[in-house]
Amino acid sequence: MQKGQFLWECAGYDGFVVHKGFLPLSTQQKIVACLRDIAGQAPFFSLVTPGGQNMSVRMTSAGAVGWTSDVQGYRYADEHPTGVLWPAIPNPILAIWTSVSGVTRAPDSCLINYYGADARMGLHQDRDEADFSWPVVSVSLGDAGLFRMGGAERGGKTDTLWLESGDVVVMSGAARLNYHGVDRIRFGSSTLLPKGGRINLTMRVAT
Ligand code: SIN
Ligand code: FE2
Repeated sequence: MQKGQFLWECAGYDGFVVHKGFLPLSTQQKIVACLRDIAGQAPFFSLVTPGGQNMSVRMTSAGAVGWTSDVQGYRYADEHPTGVLWPAIPNPILAIWTSVSGVTRAPDSCLINYYGADARMGLHQDRDEADFSWPVVSVSLGDAGLFRMGGAERGGKTDTLWLESGDVVVMSGAARLNYHGVDRIRFGSSTLLPKGGRINLTMRVAT
């Protein structure tokens, strides 16, 4: 474990684990450099929900498949909208999965979300994957984001916590299908990303 790192097993949310301060700054910087390469090959793009609403978060992916959304629904796609294959998931990102996921199978998808000043993510379940017994591992970089966690049913009790740059979240077991979202970001709270904003990486076994 790195100095200053602690694990927070959240009461009432079995399988939801927050590794606060998991990534040292040097690792965060290395990952941002990898993400710059990925965005050069597979640029961030805007999506619409199946209901036709524009999503405020811009996205791209790495891995064999990438999560996407349009009026036809949510799904995993083999290609970026431009027709290029998604770049491979970089090793420094895979290493986080290896450390915290508790499973030996590697993720086949890493969604890369970019939150600008006014971006948010409504409460949702991650349920477009073939098998929910694989965990979800997510990594926060840049500005802090107010993460909202609920239960397995929409409309139940929720709690919030600020996720900061270098924090790593695992959702597995009972929490794997819990509703979650991001209410807002604290724009300008980190200097990791030159233009500000927040990046969240979500690694999953999708297929
Ligand atoms: C998501 O659930 O898709 C994103 C979570 C986050 O940004 O922390
Ligand atoms: Fe999610």
